[in-house]
Amino acid sequence: TKGERIFFMFSSAGHDEAYFEAPETFDIKRNTGPSLPFGAGPHFCGGAAVARSLITEVALPKLFAACPDLRLHGEVPFTGWAFRGPTKMPVAW
Ligand code: HEM
Repeated sequence: TKGERIFFMFSSAGHDEAYFEAPETFDIKRNTGPSLPFGAGPHFCGGAAVARSLITEVALPKLFAACPDLRLHGEVPFTGWAFRGPTKMPVAW
């Protein structure tokens, strides 16, 4: 109804079977084109290019260069409602 407060569930959109085959399965080669990690429309994330560049061109290359044997070492539980993510990520190197 008018005036009601709503919250768009980005993570739910990312699990829409109409757009993603087997959305619960991690597939690094998946076409993520229809996903909305940075929102969409007039409120599309103003820092998307900065965030992508910092993560993929700076942070991750530095991390993998410093720890070439870095690997997961235990369960990675995902939880959360609107802002979903891992609550812990045990690693070894
Ligand atoms: C991985 C990192 C990031 C993710 C996943 C992310 C995600 C998002 C999402 C989903 C929205 C849309 C929210 C909505 O529709 O209401 C948004 C908006 C926005 N983000 Fe980001 N963001 C990230 C990093 C950044 C950074 C580094 C900056 C600034 C340098 C930034 C600046 C903004 C701004 C200014 C908006 C508001 C745009 C508007 O409402 O017109 N974000 N972000």
